[in-house]
Amino acid sequence: MRYRVTLIEGDGIGPEVTGATRKILAAAGAPIDWEPVPAGAAAFEKYGEALPEAVLTSLRTNRVGLKGPLATPKGGGYTSANVRLRQALDLYVGWRPVRSLPGVKSKYQGVDLVVLRENTEGLYAGIEHEVSPGTIVSLKVSSKGAAERIARWAFENARYTGRRKITVCHKKSVLPKGDGAFVDAFFNVGKEYPFIQQDEISLDDLALALVTDPARFDVMLLENLYGDILSDLCAGLVGGLGVVPGANVGANIAVFEAVHGTAPDIEGKGLANPLAVLLSAVLMLEYMGEHKVADKVTCAVHDVLAKGVVRTGDLGGKAGTVVFTDAIIDAL
Ligand code: NAI
Repeated sequence: MRYRVTLIEGDGIGPEVTGATRKILAAAGAPIDWEPVPAGAAAFEKYGEALPEAVLTSLRTNRVGLKGPLATPKGGGYTSANVRLRQALDLYVGWRPVRSLPGVKSKYQGVDLVVLRENTEGLYAGIEHEVSPGTIVSLKVSSKGAAERIARWAFENARYTGRRKITVCHKKSVLPKGDGAFVDAFFNVGKEYPFIQQDEISLDDLALALVTDPARFDVMLLENLYGDILSDLCAGLVGGLGVVPGANVGANIAVFEAVHGTAPDIEGKGLANPLAVLLSAVLMLEYMGEHKVADKVTCAVHDVLAKGVVRTGDLGGKAGTVVFTDAIIDAL
């Protein structure tokens, strides 16, 4: 069986890192036929649209996509294509597995966490009012439906990937209704999954526990803003944003992507580290059930990193994108 996968190369270093990823996956024998579609700054220049309809059509058809970073113009011009993609396809789960990698300098070794972020509600609903001059009210939206569907996704994913425990995070002490409903939905759905341990923790306790004893956690489920902040904190536990994969997932559609940006400072210099996009592609292969080829690529990456001879500048080495890519292909 072969899979047709939508490919958004992205802006800046996007074509370099997605190109390297394609090369490695081809060498590993991944059964993928890529369908490239235009998005981001290049698409805006060419079509006057940063997220052309063709992107959404392709993803709705193929159901799986790999995305490079997309530039968002600082002074406006168009709305972030990343945000619009998430909204248009209702990609309600932010999925970020965070694992220590051999040979990558970090504060902790042996970290193996999954951060799940509710992508659609909370303060990101963007509802703000100036109720009187100088006084702003920003509304945080929490619905039972959104809380239940991400809780169900969390349990199903834990079941499928062999995870044993999910911890839901909240700030019920100040938001008993909104965060309380998020937690209640989690435990209600959790009654259907008694074989997975279930726990709750306050946001502040979680922040402290993560930086002192991250091995305590397995899967963490967080509403939008808490997930945004703590997923980056967790990346910091294993070496930063450049080495963690990610995905945004909806009902039967998943878009896999690195969490770093377009790195305009190194664009076109052949210095970009393709690891985050490559590991996102590995996560994609696991999601598709292609575990054999996913494991093969993972082993090759670990092999190269553990030897420590070939590594990119951001990891303290001197290798460029091509040399690092070829080293992984040799290790395959
Ligand atoms: P950035 O992640 O692009 O760069 C921050 C620093 O990390 C830079 O020094 C860069 O060279 C380095 N870096 C990033 N990725 C790297 C890689 N693969 N290998 C080696 N070094 C790497 O963040 P910045 O500068 O804030 O954003 C630049 C653009 O990217 C903006 O237009 C922003 O909107 C966009 N962006 C897009 C994202 C996405 O599509 N998911 C996520 C974050 C930012």
